[in-house]
Amino acid sequence: MKILVTGGIGYIGSHTVVELQARGYEVVIVDDLSNSTIEVLDNIARISGKKPLFEQFDLTDAERTRLFFKKYRDINGIIHFAASKAVGESVELPLKYYRNNLVSLINILQGMLDHEIRNIVFSSSCTVYGQPDKLPVKEDAPVRQAWSPYGNTKRISEEIITDTSKVTGVQSILLRYFNPIGAHETAIIGELPLGVPNSLMPYITQTAIGLRPFLRVWGNDYNTPDGTAIRDYLHVTDLALAHVIAFERMLNGKMKQKLEVFNLGTGNGFSVMQVIESFERTTGVKLDCRIMDRRPGDIEQVWADTELANKELGWKAGKSLDEMTASAWKWEKALAEKRK
Ligand code: NAD
Ligand code: WQD
Repeated sequence: MKILVTGGIGYIGSHTVVELQARGYEVVIVDDLSNSTIEVLDNIARISGKKPLFEQFDLTDAERTRLFFKKYRDINGIIHFAASKAVGESVELPLKYYRNNLVSLINILQGMLDHEIRNIVFSSSCTVYGQPDKLPVKEDAPVRQAWSPYGNTKRISEEIITDTSKVTGVQSILLRYFNPIGAHETAIIGELPLGVPNSLMPYITQTAIGLRPFLRVWGNDYNTPDGTAIRDYLHVTDLALAHVIAFERMLNGKMKQKLEVFNLGTGNGFSVMQVIESFERTTGVKLDCRIMDRRPGDIEQVWADTELANKELGWKAGKSLDEMTASAWKWEKALAEKRK
């Protein structure tokens, strides 16, 4: 069973490759290393004992993608992670985001049609819900106009896949991730933010290790119990496992429709202050936190209704917030060791 994992050198992709290999799947990764480093390939092999096949190229290159599918004729399905994901950058460089995220997807889908590859799992995001009217948010909640071009690429990608699935043999699972954090238990792979991180968890760990002078808390005047914004954080290994389960659902003919959508979160919302408190509690490291104005584009609160994923996929994100913050810290310390 051979699976193409696009973006498999990246944060979520690399953890998913390890879980796929552990279950005996042969993986071929395509990644252009635009937001990752090649050492991750060896690090995957250090964990799994097997180096995945790897092709380095940009999936927006239609001809190169076509040649790839011609070379690998025995691919049974695709998990498509490759995309640019920096929300702020997408506001500055919208065309980079529309081109990279949408053209890559179109090239992949074209390859699927040309070679009769039936199965695709797609990395979508809770960003498609915007600020939902009802919480926890269910999969049938309305998809909203996104604030950022990045978010918009996820909404449009979902539509491209939906329209393609309707009229072809392609069956698709759209996975809407909430906020993945933490790293593999070995601390051999994890999140590698290039430059200054935007996301809360890497900013916390980089502050704690001394790479950043202090942590800015973006707003404490939200309508939440402690005034800081609420998200649904889930561990990246739990998230990776959901991809394997979704993939097997497709392969084993268990899908109820040709296109299915699942929220992937824990179902629990935690505020920025609760994440900080968990980090300080589990690590014993005190953070210098400074309250700032709200960050433009941020939503107040969102967490997932996970009933569908729990029941249909038989998947549940099991790790607690304390386990997740401890895991992120173990990874940051491992990175610091490497820098020495
Ligand atoms: P990441 O940047 O670590 O991984 C993406 C990988 O794709 C990188 O290795 C990058 O080099 C590669 N890539 C990008 N464009 C490419 C192209 N044109 N051709 C080939 N390779 C390309 O990101 P991640 O956090 O692992 O996210 C994976 C997916 O999940 C993305 O689609 C992202 O939008 C989505 N997602 C992420 C989050 C999150 O919080 N991390 C949340 C929701 C959805
Ligand atoms: C979480 C909370 C911040 C950093 C991003 C993407 C979204 C989706 C999920 C991919 C917010 C606060 C953060 C900091 C802070 N990703 N914060 N200080 O906002 O849910 O969204 O991830 O699809 O598209 O935008 O995650 O980790 O950036 O922020 O106070 O230094 O932490 O304001 O309330 P978010 P995040």
